[in-house]
Formats: sequence, C-alpha cells, structure tokens
Amino acid sequence: MKQLRTLQDMSISEIEYLLCQAETPLQKMKHDYTVVNMFFEPSTRTKYSFEMAEASLGLHRMDFTSEASSIEKGESLYDTLKTFEAIGADLLVIRHPKPKFYENLEGLNVPIINAGDGAGNHPTQSLLDLLTMKQEFGRLHGLHVVIAGDVVHSRVANTNASILEQFGAEVSYAGPREWMPDDLKGRRHLTMDEAALQADVMMMLRIQRERHVSGRDCADSYLENFGLTEMREASMQDHAIIMHPAPVNRGVEIAGSLVECERSRIFRQMKNGVKARQAVLSYILEAKGARSYEAIV
Ligand code: CP
Repeated sequence: MKQLRTLQDMSISEIEYLLCQAETPLQKMKHDYTVVNMFFEPSTRTKYSFEMAEASLGLHRMDFTSEASSIEKGESLYDTLKTFEAIGADLLVIRHPKPKFYENLEGLNVPIINAGDGAGNHPTQSLLDLLTMKQEFGRLHGLHVVIAGDVVHSRVANTNASILEQFGAEVSYAGPREWMPDDLKGRRHLTMDEAALQADVMMMLRIQRERHVSGRDCADSYLENFGLTEMREASMQDHAIIMHPAPVNRGVEIAGSLVECERSRIFRQMKNGVKARQAVLSYILEAKGARSYEAIV
C-alpha cells in the first residue's frame, strides 16, 4: 500500500517524480475518492493547503475534529482510523503531536499521509521545500543549506536535513547549542554571522515552545544572538534566499522586515505547498486505484 509516513516511504526517483508532477497542472481525479483530514494539532498552512489541493483534484473531503469525536469517550487512535476505513475513506491525512504516531497501525488498510508527527517528521513540508529550492537554483546538489534555530524540536529540520543530504546538498546548523541534536551527524554548527555569509539557503525555524519541557525563554535577546537581523541579511551572498516553514514569529527568529524582502521565499513555499500536496494525493490515490483494479482482474 503506497502511503507517506516519512520520506523513507518514497524512493529518490519517486521523490523526483513528485517534484516534477508538482510543476505539472494536474487533472481532476477520475474516481470519486474520499479523503479525511485529521488534525490533532493546530495547523494553518498544512491543513488548508491540503484542502485546496483536494478541491482542485475534485476529491470528496471530510474534516475530523478530535474534540467532537469519540476520542473524547476514550476511543484509541487506531480504532478511530479503523472506523474511517470501515465507512469507506480512501486516504487519511493526519497531523498528531505524538512522534511516530503511525507506528503500531499495522492492521489499518487505508493509506495515510503524515501531515506532521510531533518533533518527528513533516514529509510534505520537505517536498515543498525541495520544490522551492529546485525552482530557485535548478538543482539541490552542491547547495549549502543552513537550518537555523530550534533544530532539535523541529520536525522540519529533522526531515529536511537527511533528504537534502541524500540529494547531495550540504547541511549545517546554527542556533543555541542546547537546541542542537546530541549527534550532529557530521554537520557543522555555525554562528549566525558565519551562517549568513556562507548559506545558499538560510532556513529559519520558529522556537517550538509547545515542545519545550523547560529552559530559556529568550525572546528579547534571541533575534540579536541567534536570529536573522537586517545586518546579517545584508551580509548574505547575492544569490542566497531565505526560507521558513512558518508560522513566523516576526521580530523573534527573523526581523519582521525580512519576511517579505526580496530574498524571502516564505510565501512561495506556501504556494508550493498546494502543488506538492496535489502531487502526493494524486500519486497515492492513483496507486490505490491501480491496486483495486489488480484485485478485480
Ligand atoms: N509549516 C507548517 O506546517 O505550518 P502549519 O503548522 O500552519 O501547518
């Protein structure tokens, strides 16, 4: 069953195919498929760009709200998902605060797309990020991408670092030492001044307060010490771009004036989110359709 729990569910050639499909105007799907959007954590971009993508593909969409469901009566995630399988859902788009929520769902016979699992993975965000970099540079190989900020709590950092390296990019980190992973896996830890000078892509991250157990709340001094200030932006290479998965906290990890500056691709990323999600939805549902056809003949 083709699904997208982490990018490891796709081969490099499948990821290249999805990036290519994301640039192609897609037709409405020929079958009446039903997709259920299940967000157990807040979301603006991922939830609504999935909705836009589903509408453009002519999919029937159902929205699931945990607080108004039988989860409130103690039903497990697994039994909730099995219920949607039983009533005929074709695909489940799930965001959940628990890392690897998709494990221990072996009995489930409906594909899922992971729309973010705690500090684990965010595969569709990575696809839209790869798409944005490919549009900009025409390649991923050889790019120096600096992921800056609260790296250890970020599913975006986690997913992007490994896939970018598989495509031949160099990944470095910047940000407070205590927010770096214990194992840097050979990646360099740069100061923000070094990062601004060296990066082709400066990928800024929000402070993920909702995943902090304790520790510093350093919003006042953070921009100066670890954020992208106007002065650092001025030192970036001419061709370098700024990315951020958003939501952005203007004036904390990035100066407010830089969010829409010439180098910023932050809103382009959001636009690409619809394209990348269209490509993934269509690919998984087509694979499901082909499987059903094989079962009939
Ligand atoms: N980038 C991202 O996942 O944003 P949302 O949390 O708003 O979906």
